[in-house]
Amino acid sequence: MTGVSSGTALRAHRVSKEHGEDQGLVRAVDEVDLEVRAGQSVAVMGPSGCGKSTLLHLLGGMDRPTDGEVWPAGHRLDMLGERALARLRRRSRP
Ligand SMILES: Nc1ncnc2c1ncn2[C@@H]1O[C@H](COP(=O)(O)OP(=O)(O)OP(=O)(O)O)[C@@H](O)[C@H]1O
Ligand SMILES: [Mg+2]
Repeated sequence: MTGVSSGTALRAHRVSKEHGEDQGLVRAVDEVDLEVRAGQSVAVMGPSGCGKSTLLHLLGGMDRPTDGEVWPAGHRLDMLGERALARLRRRSRP
């Protein structure tokens, strides 16, 4: 991962999220790669429980990945603190 090319609105690199622990552990998002260009529309589709909401929370900075990286417009989300995340959410327009 070397960064974000121009025209890229959002990029996810091998992003994963696990909920719960031990026997109750659920890998809701498993190493998702995604690049969305500025102005591009993307639909997230799949059966109930496949991880759509979890993925959108990760991409929107509402939740933190267990592994992997999320880059909205050049920022690496998993490296930002709570205040910086809140500032980014306030400034960003879909
Ligand atoms: N906070 C949580 N704690 C434990 N498990 C969770 C949590 N949130 C989601 N999960 C589990 O993670 C998996 C993915 O859930 P998620 O809500 O992301 O699916 P979804 O595709 O949005 O489903 P739906 O179409 O019903 O909205 C499911 O197995 C769910 O039970
Ligand atoms: Mg959902």
